[in-house]
Amino acid sequence: MSFLHGLFAGAGLTLLVGAAAGYFAYRRLGRLTERARQAERLAELGTLTGGLAHEIKNPLSTIQLNLQLIQEDLTPGHPAYSRLAGRIAVCEKETSRLREILDDFLRYAGRMELDRKPVELNRLCEDLVDFMLPQAQVQKVKLRFKRTEDDVIVSADERLVKQAVLNLMINGLQAMPNGGEMILTVSRKGNEAAIDVIDTGPGIPPETLSKIFDAYYTTRKAGTGLGLAMTRRIAQEHGGRVLVTSEQGKGSDFSLRLPLR
Ligand SMILES: Nc1ncnc2c1ncn2[C@@H]1O[C@H](COP(=O)(O)OP(=O)(O)OP(=O)(O)O)[C@@H](O)[C@H]1O
Ligand SMILES: [Mg+2]
Repeated sequence: MSFLHGLFAGAGLTLLVGAAAGYFAYRRLGRLTERARQAERLAELGTLTGGLAHEIKNPLSTIQLNLQLIQEDLTPGHPAYSRLAGRIAVCEKETSRLREILDDFLRYAGRMELDRKPVELNRLCEDLVDFMLPQAQVQKVKLRFKRTEDDVIVSADERLVKQAVLNLMINGLQAMPNGGEMILTVSRKGNEAAIDVIDTGPGIPPETLSKIFDAYYTTRKAGTGLGLAMTRRIAQEHGGRVLVTSEQGKGSDFSLRLPLR
């Protein structure tokens, strides 16, 4: 009796464990399918919005052209000349702004084809420091570069990596309007190459830190908020990432990481 009892109990337990495993596998599959569907929807949305931005640009060009033609036809002798000229100027300014918004969006969200070649990061940074030196001097920012002894070579699109680092340097300079110090360093961190842009600006509050990479997040009046989003996208397209550490009152360290070859 007790043998039969044990047999049934054992079979019951096996069934129960089997059913639970099946249930969890089913749930996991469901989650994976949902994630794949979401990724697909997101990719589709990206293509759609990119197409939409392109589509808007064509009629916008026609509007801009016609505004120019109206302006040319409008002679100072016209009774409502100054009123109409003022209104046309407003329309021209706003259409230009729309165009810039679309161009920024397409640069950020559009396709990014990488032209990968071996790139030596110390030289790339030296070029950028030379380029930014005059602006740093104007702002009384001491700009320094710390290179590695040997070369650090990654397989990357040089133009895009330059843009990514430049965005970080511009942010650093903008964060130090009353002077300070900026250090650019190249190093190896495990299987990654690192370019750090370190500033002695005001730092970033912890509650803001999670938002700064979001597209269109900005605290600057003239900012588009696409600089860091673009830098992160460039890093990710290369299989890399961007890390940030910041301390209020001390400054920030943005680290662009790219996989080493
Ligand atoms: N080095 C930094 N020090 C302090 N705050 C920073 C720094 N870098 C970025 N930030 C903050 O992150 C926000 C987003 O930066 P991001 O580069 O994406 O946009 P932006 O500089 O405001 O505009 P854009 O780059 O499009 O001109 C900035 O508005 C600023 O608040
Ligand atoms: Mg910026």
